[in-house]
Amino acid sequence: MARPLTATVDLNAILHNYRYAKKLQPSCKAFAVVKSNAYGHGAIEVAKHLDDDADAFAVATIEEAIALREADIVSPILLLEGVFEADEWRLCEEHGFWSAIESDTQLAWFLDSKANVEKIFVKLDTGMHRLGMDQEAAVAFIDTLKSSDQVDDVILMTHFACADDLSDITTMEQLTRFEQARHAIEKSGNGPVDASVANSAAIMKWSVPEGGWIRPGLMLYGISPFSGVTGQQLGLAPAMTLSSKVISVRALKKGDKVGYGLSYEASEDHQLATIAAGYGDGYPRTTAYGAPMNINAMPAMLAGRVSMDMITARLTNATSGIEIGQTVELWGSNVPVEEVADFADTIAYELVTRMTSRPHYKYETRFELK
Ligand SMILES: Cc1ncc(COP(=O)(O)O)c(C=O)c1O
Repeated sequence: MARPLTATVDLNAILHNYRYAKKLQPSCKAFAVVKSNAYGHGAIEVAKHLDDDADAFAVATIEEAIALREADIVSPILLLEGVFEADEWRLCEEHGFWSAIESDTQLAWFLDSKANVEKIFVKLDTGMHRLGMDQEAAVAFIDTLKSSDQVDDVILMTHFACADDLSDITTMEQLTRFEQARHAIEKSGNGPVDASVANSAAIMKWSVPEGGWIRPGLMLYGISPFSGVTGQQLGLAPAMTLSSKVISVRALKKGDKVGYGLSYEASEDHQLATIAAGYGDGYPRTTAYGAPMNINAMPAMLAGRVSMDMITARLTNATSGIEIGQTVELWGSNVPVEEVADFADTIAYELVTRMTSRPHYKYETRFELK
């Protein structure tokens, strides 16, 4: 383990955040959303740590679901987008997966497969226009599913387009359409059906239907979905610390330029640290001058373009004090990943999810659970 770049994941922090999500919506059961390698945190390690607590897990692909089963995860697992091929329904039955259904095609494959599945989540398009069906189709789908003997329980599901923006009324409009559809299903003689609507933003800030299932993703990892607010400020525990070390130090003279394109120019004499981390590890190349980090617990900032394997930085409030071997926190409890994402002109979802396999991953359970 020579190169020092390490993603340290505190599994207790994730458990704390899962429990916190359930505390915010105490009438609901909760999926722990672990798709995309648990947002870059390691799906198997995360699921193993949560398996006793989690009501169920949610993933995007059947490969992700099978990997969890192969790692002896016993909780139910939901396929959030449903199946991509007819044969997957057989695997759902075999492994006890639950699935969303969002289209005629998925429904026809399901009926043809004769597979038995415990729960199906019928996806209603309440306005996001990405997946799902309108109210009329949902009423008909639920009628078909309930009269088949292939499924025990049907839940109505939707996804919000703008829940992270508290000033946008779209979420209220989507909720109204959702409740209208639930009412229509009940009137058709197939209700009441449980609801599943809430992602992290909705769990934390919107009033969502009682009962049913919430689907926390980002908040599990201690990250805020809202701009200008960090996960810690919302009572979450950041789960990942991305850290590395200073591998070279030089004294820059005022006017010296740094890195590819020589995009940074020193405005005074100061030290420059070179750090083992780059876009080949997932630290975005788009990250702009000034992005925060800590060097040896002192505030520092990116200075110069991000290379594949290295970045360069200077102390924010001092011109000297850097030494080779000092620890650098690139994001974590002291350097909010949300702020780094702002400097990279992206969102924290993308920063953690696009981590590559190159950093060392270390798992710990330091966060004190109450
Ligand atoms: C259908 C669905 N539900 C829940 C989530 C979790 O959302 P978040 O990470 O914002 O909590 C996602 C994530 O993209 C999703 O696609």
